[in-house]
Amino acid sequence: MHHYGNKIIDESRQGEALMLESEGHKKLYIESYGCQMNFSDSEIVASILAGEGYSTTKNPEDADLVLLNTCSIREKAEQTVRNRLSHLQYLKKTKPAVKIGVLGCMAERIKDKLLDEEKLVDLVVGPDAYRDLPELLKEVNDGRKAVNVILSKEETYGDINPVRLGGNGISAFISIMRGCDNMCTFCVVPFTRGRERSRNPQSIIEEAVQLQDAGYKEITLLGQNVDSYLWYGGGLKKDFAKASEIARASAVRFAELLRRVAEAVPGMRIRFSTSNPQDMTEDVLYTIAEYPNICKYIHLPVQSGSSRILKAMNRGHTREQYMELIEKIRSIIPDCGLSHDMIAGFPGETEEDHQDTLSLMEFVKYDFGYMFKYSERPGTYAARHLRDDVPDEVKTRRLNEIIDLQQKHSLYRNQQHLGKTVEVLVEGTSRKSEDHWFGRTTQNTVVVFPKEQAKPGDRVWVTVEYCTSATLLGKLASLSC
Ligand code: SAH
Ligand code: F3S
Repeated sequence: MHHYGNKIIDESRQGEALMLESEGHKKLYIESYGCQMNFSDSEIVASILAGEGYSTTKNPEDADLVLLNTCSIREKAEQTVRNRLSHLQYLKKTKPAVKIGVLGCMAERIKDKLLDEEKLVDLVVGPDAYRDLPELLKEVNDGRKAVNVILSKEETYGDINPVRLGGNGISAFISIMRGCDNMCTFCVVPFTRGRERSRNPQSIIEEAVQLQDAGYKEITLLGQNVDSYLWYGGGLKKDFAKASEIARASAVRFAELLRRVAEAVPGMRIRFSTSNPQDMTEDVLYTIAEYPNICKYIHLPVQSGSSRILKAMNRGHTREQYMELIEKIRSIIPDCGLSHDMIAGFPGETEEDHQDTLSLMEFVKYDFGYMFKYSERPGTYAARHLRDDVPDEVKTRRLNEIIDLQQKHSLYRNQQHLGKTVEVLVEGTSRKSEDHWFGRTTQNTVVVFPKEQAKPGDRVWVTVEYCTSATLLGKLASLSC
């Protein structure tokens, strides 16, 4: 029952998945941690297992198979999964036949040692080995433990039609590339997700069109490093130079992919994540500016505002080059929303470096940010060569200063919308109030407004009357589209 090879039968597969929802005799419970890529991968796993007769359940107690799709990015992320695993022990007591598997980055990083460390785990599968799940499950169901953590040169799961899990029916992820070649010295991702490879653009467009036909209104193109997207017929990005002249001449890069997707689904909003400053090219910016359905928002992690630290992080650009890129974005895409990732307390970070981070933030005034304390990850360059020498209380203090400044900037950015009418894609009911919808602007800012006639999936105009640092509040101005 492996139909992944053929896109034409995808519609029947959807029917099959629906049927399995009610009739599937085996139940899968899957929980995802960490980045959006893991959530997207879980949808691929659910699709592969649907072919094996598994339907998904939201209740682990109903499940025959419990999978945790895990994250290794910081020590705390791994600890969260370990705590969850020890909590799940009760499942085995009440239902000894239940099988428990660890997927994703922890599986890849810790490998078969996980079986020794976490006695209840039956199955360990790395991010490139999900096609092997049916075979691995046979072993597990025969009472053996099973592991596959082999990283791949080609795997993109491009032909697998994801089972959309837990979504709102409006916004969906499409994975476009896997792995990362950047080797930032603090980062475990190149080790857990392997080298960069890109997915066939045709299969990306087909997935976008299918989502549009199914009533979705927004897609997010996903990859660890989307600007590095490069399709030349398949294979690792680093082997591009070895490809034939014809393959190289007809290669598709990220700007071209964005253009093709934007034209294929003109009625959908298009987002993408994550961009890395060293790989972002001007033609991507012009493409964003050109197409009204590509959202005016870039998540552009910087990690530090100090050129000295950026060098030690192997980020491939200086503070000044990043500032130039920001100015370019502002001139090509006026009103572009910007967000960042920042790390406080990288090895060797001085007060002066930290001040450079704060002053860079002051220069950009990001709409929002994701901010972390440095966490040493085994096997990375930083763990092997640099001493984790910033005391924890200093990391915490610097992180808090970064967070406070970000809050100030988020409020400042939101205040710029006051009195204006903004276009919002309605996603659902506000978490704080039953009587309000919530949605997002093109800049990815959350907007909340009284329900009235609008409904989820509508694109409406909302006049902003009030704001906090996190949210714009307003009232419906008109139903558009
Ligand atoms: N390119 C990826 C980045 C993955 S990691 C993407 O698709 O988002 C997400 C963020 O986690 C990084 O940008 C960085 O800010 C943070 N991070 C990564 N490794 C870290 C570490 N060792 N300690 C603290 N934060 C880290
Ligand atoms: Fe990690 Fe740097 Fe890639 S943060 S995911 S190695 S761009």
